[in-house]
Amino acid sequence: MRQLHPETLAIRLQTERTQHREHATPLFNTSSFVFDNAEQMRALFADEEEGNIYSRFSNPNVREFETKMAMLEGLDDAFATATGMAAVFAGFAGLLSSGDHILASRALFGSSYTILTQVLPRFGITHTMVDPAAPETWDAAILPSTRMFFVETPSNPGLTLVDLEAAGALAKRHDLILNVDNCFATPVLQNPATFGAHLVTHSATKFIDGQGRVLGGVVIGGKDHVAAIRKFCRNTGPALSPFNAWVLSKSLETLFVRMDRHCDNAEALARHFIDHADLISVNYPFLDAHPQYELARRQMKRGGGLVTMELKGGVDRGRAFLDSLELLSLSANLGDSRTIATHPASTTHSKLTEAQRLEAGITPGLVRISVGLEHVDDVIADIEQALASSR
Ligand SMILES: Cc1ncc(COP(=O)(O)O)c(C=O)c1O
Repeated sequence: MRQLHPETLAIRLQTERTQHREHATPLFNTSSFVFDNAEQMRALFADEEEGNIYSRFSNPNVREFETKMAMLEGLDDAFATATGMAAVFAGFAGLLSSGDHILASRALFGSSYTILTQVLPRFGITHTMVDPAAPETWDAAILPSTRMFFVETPSNPGLTLVDLEAAGALAKRHDLILNVDNCFATPVLQNPATFGAHLVTHSATKFIDGQGRVLGGVVIGGKDHVAAIRKFCRNTGPALSPFNAWVLSKSLETLFVRMDRHCDNAEALARHFIDHADLISVNYPFLDAHPQYELARRQMKRGGGLVTMELKGGVDRGRAFLDSLELLSLSANLGDSRTIATHPASTTHSKLTEAQRLEAGITPGLVRISVGLEHVDDVIADIEQALASSR
């Protein structure tokens, strides 16, 4: 058969059909698998034969999801986990040891920041944070013990980009594992492996699920890296459940179509509000006002589904704006078919000092909009009325 496109494979890659001739993959909701005899059992445990033993190690639904994700990111293999954070942690803990050092972008999701600053140091793994928008400063932060460069692009919530070509070149120069959290872009909009990334990490909870139903995560990489991560996870147990894997694999069938609409809506919304009198600024990677617009055009196919807005009036205005919304959901998730608004300064980042917030790009009036799949005019109208009534 001719080589199929990723859009087709995201639909057609499927677990082998059973004797029941089902069309959709069934749910293999089983904790363990049976062996034909003692010899098969021995051979499977000895890794002499490939096959399922126990769903903490592998499961057909999970494997289907992993196979599709590896294909979509253009890397050899993948290991799926119960959450995105389990995937982030597995990428570190599966590959690094005490004494190793991680170079990391300063613009990271809060829990990734916490793992680097509070969890890994307890196990002797240290880090240095660098400015994601200043690649010329990265070399100077490399130590003899640096093993990994961990970045997130675009970042949550500031939408700061990391130059993936520069990151790939740095990793090559210093023999580092380049690990990219590709959650905001998804493999539809950006493939870090084409720039030299060795690991790509996802929270599948976001756009990959796309309807706010299940948690999940996945680390994708070369054979040896994924084998080491699998070994770590097989014993420590952050396995993705078969049901969640089934949902996520079905979700991948519509990922390309959904991402197009997320991008259409986000771009229309960002353009609509760009010169609004109630806003200090609107941030979206594909607006030419974005400070890294040229970079966004180079490494992303489209701008993604997240828009941030800086409201005039600081924290109080941000809170009043959220209270005035009628259609948009106030929720901690993103990448849902329903548009979601959050105010990081009074919620997710309220425990940081003002200076720490500003360093992470979180200004007092910053509102993050995860633009959903509704008619964009309805989303715009709700934001307009909430801006007016929070004045
Ligand atoms: C960029 C990024 N990485 C990782 C995560 C963690 O994912 P999960 O909530 O599935 O553990 C999130 C969650 O918001 C995220 O935005």
